[in-house]
Amino acid sequence: MREDPSGHVAVVGAGVIGLAVAWRAAQRGLRVTVVAPDRTPGTASDVAAGMLTPATEAAFGEEPLMRLGALSRDRYPAFAAELEAETGLPSGLRTAGTLQVAFDADDLARLAETRDLLDRLGLATERLTGRACRELEPMLAPGVRGGFLAPDDHAVDPRLLTAALRAALRGRGVRTVREPAAAVLTADGRVRGVRTASGADVPADRVVLAAGVWTSGIGGLPGGVVPPLRPVKGQVLRLLLPDGEPPLITRTVRGLVRGTPVYLVPRDGREVVLGATQEEMGADLRPTAGGMWELLRDAHALVPGVSELEVAETRVGLRPGSPDNEPLLGPTAVPGLHLAAGHFRHGVLLTPATADALADALTGGALPDYARRFSADRGSDGSEAPQWT
Ligand code: GLY
Repeated sequence: MREDPSGHVAVVGAGVIGLAVAWRAAQRGLRVTVVAPDRTPGTASDVAAGMLTPATEAAFGEEPLMRLGALSRDRYPAFAAELEAETGLPSGLRTAGTLQVAFDADDLARLAETRDLLDRLGLATERLTGRACRELEPMLAPGVRGGFLAPDDHAVDPRLLTAALRAALRGRGVRTVREPAAAVLTADGRVRGVRTASGADVPADRVVLAAGVWTSGIGGLPGGVVPPLRPVKGQVLRLLLPDGEPPLITRTVRGLVRGTPVYLVPRDGREVVLGATQEEMGADLRPTAGGMWELLRDAHALVPGVSELEVAETRVGLRPGSPDNEPLLGPTAVPGLHLAAGHFRHGVLLTPATADALADALTGGALPDYARRFSADRGSDGSEAPQWT
């Protein structure tokens, strides 16, 4: 079904996904309102390190997701350049590649298997000895066994990206209603807008739910249209180099330490982001001593100099995990209702691909080919019954 491109879209959620969808929709000539409070503790894109690493975050059995990730990563330079040109603000994109390293022989064996998978998928990597890893990053521990460079896996600063997207929306006259959405409004079976927590109505003939893990708590919809999204807790530390010190690392370093993954992401300036735990704890926003200890223990095993850094921030984000851990994109069984949700570990990475796909769906009625597998109504069995149970 073709949707009227001159219509009004309400985007619920103001993480990087919601903001980027709103930006692309406004660029296509749609009237857009963003509905979201200024800050929601646990918002994943406020906590995320911003890695764009489909190769070094690859997991067996997730090949389609990795392909989508690689497509989105490859769109980042143009996406960031366009945003920077439109707003005059930085996006924090760094294109220095990612170094994946192994702490011990078992970790090295696991990395060799990952490299075989990446070779099969055509994702570039360069195998490195321990010594070659240290030539690239001299602050690595002498015991690091080896690893590989993923030259196309980069990073962005999600906080800068958020600020730039907000500025782009202001520049395009997008209205923001700074409240949580309580319910989607429907009449005659199709979407009519959004009701906020204070009871105000935002009329719209299309609604995009992009509220991270809170997406499935929004009312007003038949059961099963929006699947349950589970919060997957991630604890992150932001560390600061002393003023005037040279960088500790010059590119993202990901490591396996006795089988446990850890990453260190340098920013321009003094900051290094260290992450992340992955805990199925419900919506628990408490940083814990154990979580911080594990991060510091493993980061220190790879880059001992982290122990000299100042702790600037401990943060907890809630990754939105869908039932199959894949994102939910585009139209649902309710006419006018779209999802841009369930991005789990990959929200920042998948932002350009998601925003482009939603803009297509909102203006043309269909997702582009690359996004079809991730269609929000993929649980549908062809009947009128709700699909996600
Ligand atoms: N993508 C990194 C994380 O979820 O920790």
